[in-house]
Order: sequence, then structure tokens, then C-alpha cells
Amino acid sequence: MSNSMWGGRFADAPSAIMEEINASIDFDQKLFRQDIYGSLAHAAMLAAAGIIGQDDAARIREGLEQIRGEIEAGTFTFSRDLEDIHMNVESRLAAIIGAAAGRLHTARSRNDQVATDLKLWVRDAIDALAGEITALQAALAEKALAHAATVMPGFTHLQTAQPVTFGHHLLAYVEMLERDRGRFLDARRRLNESPLGAAALAGTSFPIDRDATAKAMGFDRPTANSLDSVSDRDFALEALAAASLCALHLSRFAEEIVIWSSAQFGFIRLSDRFSTGSSIMPQKRNPDAAELVRAKTGRITGALNALMMVMKGLPLAYQKDMQEDKEQTFMALETLSLCLTAMRGMVGDMEPDAAAMKKAAGAGYATATDLADWLVRTLGMPFREAHGVTGRIVAKAAAAGVDLEALPLAEMQAVEPRITEDVFAVLGVERSVESRTSYGGTAPANVRREAEAWLARLKERG
Ligand code: ARG
Repeated sequence: MSNSMWGGRFADAPSAIMEEINASIDFDQKLFRQDIYGSLAHAAMLAAAGIIGQDDAARIREGLEQIRGEIEAGTFTFSRDLEDIHMNVESRLAAIIGAAAGRLHTARSRNDQVATDLKLWVRDAIDALAGEITALQAALAEKALAHAATVMPGFTHLQTAQPVTFGHHLLAYVEMLERDRGRFLDARRRLNESPLGAAALAGTSFPIDRDATAKAMGFDRPTANSLDSVSDRDFALEALAAASLCALHLSRFAEEIVIWSSAQFGFIRLSDRFSTGSSIMPQKRNPDAAELVRAKTGRITGALNALMMVMKGLPLAYQKDMQEDKEQTFMALETLSLCLTAMRGMVGDMEPDAAAMKKAAGAGYATATDLADWLVRTLGMPFREAHGVTGRIVAKAAAAGVDLEALPLAEMQAVEPRITEDVFAVLGVERSVESRTSYGGTAPANVRREAEAWLARLKERG
């Protein structure tokens, strides 16, 4: 028996393996709400334009609403020989309302239908992700405010560089996430044009009103070129690109959490809620959630690459290759949502060990730059010379096995006789961070101001 939706030209049913490779219903059933929403808008427009009767449109609407209820209740039977969500819904509609169901597909094709459905799904996903990013930013800004003056070592090359504050470090991620959110919202602006009514590829001879369907679905306007409308997946690619960069940021943070929570660093303690034990080593508290966030970046950036490879050689207009857009897009955006939520939980629960951080901040001659700056400021020395003098003093301290603060004044004066007792004031880590008041610097006063500004700004977003 040939397919009841497109089988007019066919004598035989598809082979089982054809059905296996062709059917998308196992994954595109996720689009049922968008599919029905689009069909409701289309049917209402067809009736308003006089293309179908009002009574048929009413029957179609009731039928579609019943179907939505059935799918939500889990009583709907999806069938693989109906290939995809579009035909499963339409076939069920025919079973419920009879012949009028056949009028719904007037002036429409699955090509513009699927582009519309996926756009609606991606748009919802972007809106949800933007909210989840904001929530993570708020968790970070709150922690940052609480730890505006908590000193930790700042690193370059993962070598102790200069003391910074924990709050400042956390706010760096708030900035990154803000760019991520901006990329998502920017992608959303370009996405928000309705492909519905492009039909198969060439438009339609029916007097449809594309502005009406666009408006009904919250799009800014209809897409301008029917070929582009059905062959464009930029909106999914852009969302995946934004997701990849966001995941990459989360992965970097996750890596820091893994490092910080190790016994060797001991900078933070993760809550029991976000740690796991070892089945053999009783002492272990593993940062599994952070490790998984780090790892899941692979599948998210993989999805971007996979869809780019699907699209790269496709001529206009719709090609069945494009059916492969959905699983990658769903998986990647859902994974990012999970990662953002897990990160938010970890950040909220994270307890820094201020004493351990401060101790580490003082080790490794982290205030050497402060000493050099003192030589510049107090003795009028050129910075390059001060750098050399400081280097020799650090070498002395290293040879004596002590911190800069513990090196006797006489030892420093042996390198530079004009150094006075006053120098010790700048060698402490707290003084060091307090002095970094330049715009964007790590001084606790800056961090407090920035964290408060962020919290106010994020609250406005609701
Ligand atoms: N299941 C298809 C997809 O996901 C829907 C569009 C099919 N169009 C077609 N002409 N076969 O892309």
C-alpha cells in the first residue's frame, strides 16, 4: 500500500529500510506544538482570505486543538509510515474531522512548514536560554558581591601572577555571559521572519496573506524570497554558534572549578549536591558536574560542525539533507540549557576557602609588581629598571626561601640602597588589590560597585 499523503504516483510501499532512513517522527515529534500553532495561523488566514470556508476552518481548528491535547496527554499514536510530525498531525486531523482536513495544506508545503516549525522552536529555545544566562549571571554577581574583597591569586600561564579578588574573577564570567546573551538575542532578531507561505519553493497562486500569518506567530515580517525561505537554516546555525561559544565559556569556568576544588588548590568547596564520591576511595569528592559541563562542550560545538557540514554543499532550495538539522539543534540547545542550570547551582552553593586563597595569593611573589611600581612611584625609577631591581630582590627571597614580605630590609637595600621601610606597606596582598583602582581593575571597591550595578541591571530583566 502506498503512502496515503503522497502516494498518488506510487504503486509500492517503501521498503522497511527506506522508512528507517526517511522517517523523522522519532525526533521531530518534539515540534508538535509549533506545528499545530503554525497550522492554526495558516487555517485562520486561509479562511480570512476566502480560500477555505469559515466552517472548514473552524473544524480544522477544533481538530488541531484536540490533537494537541492528545499529544500532551500521551494518547496520540505516532506512526513512522507517516514520516514526520506534519503528516502525523494531518493524518490524525483527517481521522477526526474528515474531508475538511484536506483543505489545510492549501497554499503550503512541508518545506515552508518545517522551516516555520523549527524557527519557532529555536526562538523559544533562545528566549529560555537568555533567561538561564541571566540567572547564572545573577548567581555569579551575588557571589562576587559577597567576595568583593576575598583575595586570591590571579594567574597567567597558570603561574601565580598578581593578587586579584574572587569577586573580580567571577565578574569576568558575567561579562562573557553577557556577550553570549547578546549573540543569542542578535540571532533571534535575524531569525524572526516568517517562512510560511513560501510553499514548496516558488510561492503560491492563492491570494494568501503572509503578513497575517507572520503577525499571528509573532514574527516581525514574512521572509522576502521564497527560495531562501525554505532553504535557509542560518537561524539554527547562528543559534548553535552562539551556543558553542557559550558552552566554551562554561567549559573554561568548569575547568577552573575542577582545579580550585582539588586538594592541591583547596580554593573552593563544592556542595554535596554537586559532587560525587568514589566507589573505592572514601576520601574523594569529585566535581563531576563541572567535569560534565566541560565535556558537553564537545557535543554542542560538534552539533554546529555537523549542521554546517550538512548545509555546505546544498543547492537551492529544500533538500532532504535538511531533515538532519533537528536532532543536532534540539540536542545542543537542550544540553546548553542543562549546563547553564547546573553551573548556576554550583555557583550558588560554592564556598570559597578565603584563608587558603589568601595564603596562595601571597605565595609565588605575587606582589613583585607592586614592589616594582613602588620603586617607580617613590624613587622615580623607569619601570624597566625597577623590573630588574625587583627581579634581583625576588631571587634573593627565593634563595632564602621566604616571601617578599619576610625578606629583611637590609637584603633589599643591598640591591637598591634607596629602598626604605615604607616598601613593606605595598607587599601585602590586600594592599595590592586595594591599589588596583583603575577602571576595570580588581580593587574591592570596584568589584563591589560592578557587582551592584550588575545585580540592578539583571533584576530589571526579570
Ligand atoms: N520531515 C521533513 C524535514 O524534516 C519535512 C519536510 C519534508 N519535505 C519534503 N519535501 N519531503 O525536513
